Amino acid sequence: MKTYLPIALLLAALPALAQDVADLTADTKKTVLPVVPKVVKAMQEAVAAKGVAGAIPVCKEEAPALIKEKRKETGWDIRRVSLKTRNAERATPDLWEARQLADFNIRAANGEKLDTMEKGEIVTIDGKQVFRYMKALPVADVCLTCHGPADSLDAGLKAELGKYYPHDQATGYAKGQIRGALTVKRPL
Ligand code: HEC
Repeated sequence: MKTYLPIALLLAALPALAQDVADLTADTKKTVLPVVPKVVKAMQEAVAAKGVAGAIPVCKEEAPALIKEKRKETGWDIRRVSLKTRNAERATPDLWEARQLADFNIRAANGEKLDTMEKGEIVTIDGKQVFRYMKALPVADVCLTCHGPADSLDAGLKAELGKYYPHDQATGYAKGQIRGALTVKRPL
């Protein structure tokens, strides 16, 4: 009898785990996702008001600052990541994130809508349970001004980008592709 107990416990835990992931996903989204339209709006306003080169500080400082605010508020690790980084120091994905980003691209190629593309999973890191969440960030029109094909970029902007990001990989995107993701690590 005794040998079956761990199996029974495991089976009892399985549906709970699925429910946990659904609840954690919903709660994480409610808390973190309002930052996404805020960043897009800040970008649109900055491009309109200051021109493209003048808007760089918005993506460089204001977007990370909005995310930092959320980090402080929640205590969770929240970042932006990409497979083709502009700021490799901040945005290089770890293995789990790189795998999800690759999977996002496959899901997109299979016709899944980008607006709702996400992944939530409970993982174990250094013996501790962590909830990980990722949300795809699609390329919208405004993003093309700074992440579109290199030869289509404004000359002043190009010069500015070259100054700050000599190893920039984040150009050559088209509308409807996945630029990267917002990623959350939440200790349980
Ligand atoms: C005004 C120029 C500009 C516009 C417009 C812009 N970006 Fe960026 N983007 C940047 C810069 C500069 C960085 C590097 C920020 C840093 O230093 O952390 C960046 C970084 C990023 C990153 C972090 C990953 C990386 O490559 O370093 C993501 C994700 C991203 N942008 C997505 C977007 C999306 C999505 C849009 C459209 C909604 C957008 N950007 C519009 C200039 C821009």
